[in-house]
Amino acid sequence: MNPLIAPSVLAADFANLQKEVEMINGSAADYIHVDIMDGVFVPNISMGLPVVEAINRYANKPLDVHLMIVNPENYLAAFQKAGAAHITVHSEACPHLHRTIQSIKELGCKAGVAVNPHTPIAQLEDIIREVDIVILMSVNPGFGGQKFIENTYKKVHRLAKLIVETGSHAKIEIDGGVSMENARKLFDAGANILVAGNFVFSSENPQETIKKLKNIV
Ligand code: DX5
Ligand code: ZN
Repeated sequence: MNPLIAPSVLAADFANLQKEVEMINGSAADYIHVDIMDGVFVPNISMGLPVVEAINRYANKPLDVHLMIVNPENYLAAFQKAGAAHITVHSEACPHLHRTIQSIKELGCKAGVAVNPHTPIAQLEDIIREVDIVILMSVNPGFGGQKFIENTYKKVHRLAKLIVETGSHAKIEIDGGVSMENARKLFDAGANILVAGNFVFSSENPQETIKKLKNIV
């Protein structure tokens, strides 16, 4: 197993984004997680295309873009152009999820689907073979620094089972409230990628924290 870490820049110092991106560049992180919130799908507004472009100008790791927006299909090409390597949309925001996933893949990006804490894994049954990533939300999306929802472990097990049963190649990514307290258990349950915002950026030595998370298994 190769534990992958994606620090979330939502918790970074936005007035020093270049410095923060360079910190991630020089760390053991595998991806840079970028949270896009529209104030409609989630009750918060974070950043938009120009900020993604700016991050991409300095990043030397793939951008893992998490779209918490309604009608994401209207913005896929723009995010790809801004530098997204992975584009993940919420199943709850996509009535035509299959089409949206195909569109992401046609742009040459890895395609992900994210599910909110209340959305059952069973809903992924008929899309799991099409996606490269599933983001299991372990908090309600919209804010960093929230408490990890314990029911997530069960969902990781269920999803890992579905992936094996269907022969899917999807990676399991966990987003929200990740820390040293749950990282090991999440990887053990079958998670492949952990997103960490506050835990990384509010630590004294973020690069060291990233390394510790990655080496926890
Ligand atoms: C929440 C975002 C997360 C967030 C995680 O809506 O999708 O990516 O940045 O932050 P922490 O790790 O602080 O919970
Ligand atoms: Zn996220």
